[in-house]
Amino acid sequence: MDTPRKVEHQQTDRGYVPVYATGVVEQPWASYSKTDHEVWDTLYKRQRELLPGRACKEFMAGVERFGLGDGGIPKFAELNKVLGAATGWELVAVEGLLPDEVFFDHLANRRFPVSWWIRKPDQLDYLSEPDLFHDLFGHVPLLLNPVFADYMQAYGRGGMKAFAIGPDALMNLTRLYWYTVEFGLINTSEGMRIYGAGIVSSKGESIYSLDSPSPNRIGFGLERVMSTRYRIDTYQQTYFVIDSFEQLFEATHPDFTPIYAELKQQPAHAAGDVLDSDRVFTRGDRVGWATNADT
Ligand code: PHE
Ligand code: FE
Repeated sequence: MDTPRKVEHQQTDRGYVPVYATGVVEQPWASYSKTDHEVWDTLYKRQRELLPGRACKEFMAGVERFGLGDGGIPKFAELNKVLGAATGWELVAVEGLLPDEVFFDHLANRRFPVSWWIRKPDQLDYLSEPDLFHDLFGHVPLLLNPVFADYMQAYGRGGMKAFAIGPDALMNLTRLYWYTVEFGLINTSEGMRIYGAGIVSSKGESIYSLDSPSPNRIGFGLERVMSTRYRIDTYQQTYFVIDSFEQLFEATHPDFTPIYAELKQQPAHAAGDVLDSDRVFTRGDRVGWATNADT
């Protein structure tokens, strides 16, 4: 892609210097094809019809407030007016996945990186890397929620710290992101709801995560989640359930440094394990589970 790349500068203890490319580009809005806009409209319509009663109300409210279904691919500049006024977050366009420390730096500064390109019409149901639909439709609506917005920033700061501590700490933290931001469920007074971006951006998993008898649905516990491996190639074998975004924010507030040290002494749990100490909402019947190793 020959979109312009900006190399940004950063205030560090060595002064105001270019530290690394942040991966940020201009959203090349004029270059989207008619097909690109149609793919957005198709995916939007499909999820918008499926998600009421499945996604949590905070997510649905965000979708409406941004006007994500006004027709065609949204302009980040327009969304940023709404987002900036609400929670001070800003969307930045990127080519794709970023190095961990670059991603954490964005989040720590309330910038959310969104892949600018969208999948092809033959990839509506599955894609191995995040595209515009996953990043924007999946992640951005909840950035309008003040508690979730603060959680994401805290996660970015925690990421910088984990990165400095080492790869084991980083793996523990990545599992937390996976089982909350990407694949989290929330237990509301109206029933079990979805808030994870990886679920709400997938038609199949929006149904499976709530309706299938296969996976476990287990109450969120910080150390439980940080010590549990996960699947990147299939639907999840276990979903972790929070009671509220406040609970998630409070539970992740303590300094993780001693927790990382403790977890390093213990073996990780398999993705599908159920422990005696778990608060089990539903125990999966394990039908259709892959038997090869987890990530
Ligand atoms: N409290 C964590 C730490 O000290 C940071 C963090 C906050 C991580 C929120 C994830 C989510 O490392
Ligand atoms: Fe994601």
